[in-house]
Amino acid sequence: MSKVFLCGFGNVGRAFIKLILSKRELLVKQNYDLKIVGVMDSNGAALDAEGFTEEDLFSLLNVRRGEVSSAEKGKRGISFEEALAVAQPNIAVIVTPTVYSKDSPGIRLSLTALKNGCNVVTADKSPVALMFEEMMKESSKRNLKFKYKATVMAGTPIVDMLSQIKLYDVEEIEGILNGSTNYILTKISRDFLSFEEALADAKALGILESDPKLDLEGLDTAAKLVIVANTLGYSMKMEEVRRTPITKQEEKIKSILKKNEAPKYVGVINFNLRKAQVKLSRYPYSDPMSNVNDTLNAIRIKSSVNNIFVVGKGAGPLETAHALLSDIVSIIRGG
Ligand SMILES: NC(=O)c1ccc[n+]([C@@H]2O[C@H](COP(=O)([O-])OP(=O)(O)OC[C@H]3O[C@@H](n4cnc5c(N)ncnc54)[C@H](OP(=O)(O)O)[C@@H]3O)[C@@H](O)[C@H]2O)c1
Repeated sequence: MSKVFLCGFGNVGRAFIKLILSKRELLVKQNYDLKIVGVMDSNGAALDAEGFTEEDLFSLLNVRRGEVSSAEKGKRGISFEEALAVAQPNIAVIVTPTVYSKDSPGIRLSLTALKNGCNVVTADKSPVALMFEEMMKESSKRNLKFKYKATVMAGTPIVDMLSQIKLYDVEEIEGILNGSTNYILTKISRDFLSFEEALADAKALGILESDPKLDLEGLDTAAKLVIVANTLGYSMKMEEVRRTPITKQEEKIKSILKKNEAPKYVGVINFNLRKAQVKLSRYPYSDPMSNVNDTLNAIRIKSSVNNIFVVGKGAGPLETAHALLSDIVSIIRGG
């Protein structure tokens, strides 16, 4: 039996529980005996070492944010270590807010989970972008897995693909890795909105991070670049990525459009020059990058062997939940 502990019960955490409920029969049919034994938010946890019943999970979904500990099997103020001791999981799913600091909840919870014998699956980018090598070391020395497919283009299995092309001598990668800024630029280019109008539109749709600076100042794209580089086997740190915010670039956007080109906010790494940046770039309409619109993501990988271009869905709670479940299934299969 695989016992899963869910750390974080916001948009993604709830989408994950809904997905588990909807896939229950399929999982049983395919012999994945998967139980949820703990659900935690910032105030406490609900725990059942035998695994929550379907009814328990449905009633947890009705609990308000921050109130998991008020559920029937809830414990307010319990620490993660104490919760792990009660629930005895073997997989921890980390869906806490991404905070770019080495004492982020995601990093603390991931390290604690690994030290307590749990495999880790994360959608929180902080442990991957800030502590990739440490996480890999901590997991491999304990013969555990650390999986993070949900952190980059969650709706498209790009991390799986990148980990298969490690030895291709990648020269450059270039990508639209942030759906919200791509949406803003699409609205400006296609629907002739001003930057402020397009930003307001994106906010109304709820597609920006709760702190929009993470999208607009390129931190989200920079973190994804670092994750991509490390997945390809190149050690890279967030500090190495130069970022130009997309804000206050309305004039440049207009001049790109005037020249009949497409403005795109991209992350680029040139591995030969060891130069990484997040910037507003221009693409002629003959380039497939110019046609990646709305919240879609894309990545181009130039290598000595091939040029690969992948377009696909970025992240939403449901796509992210699917990526988390896919990582869990791969751990159960021993992958
Ligand atoms: N939303 C997406 O589409 C998406 C896509 C890809 C990746 N992600 C990543 O997935 C993660 C979760 O996103 P989200 O949209 O679900 O965020 P969210 O709605 O803000 O939920 C975060 C959850 O984490 C809980 N939390 C915060 N600190 C905690 C701690 N120390 N211990 C345990 N739980 C804690 C929060 O508790 P309270 O409820 O008590 O505040 C909340 O339940 C983020 O890192 C995000 O970058 C999100």
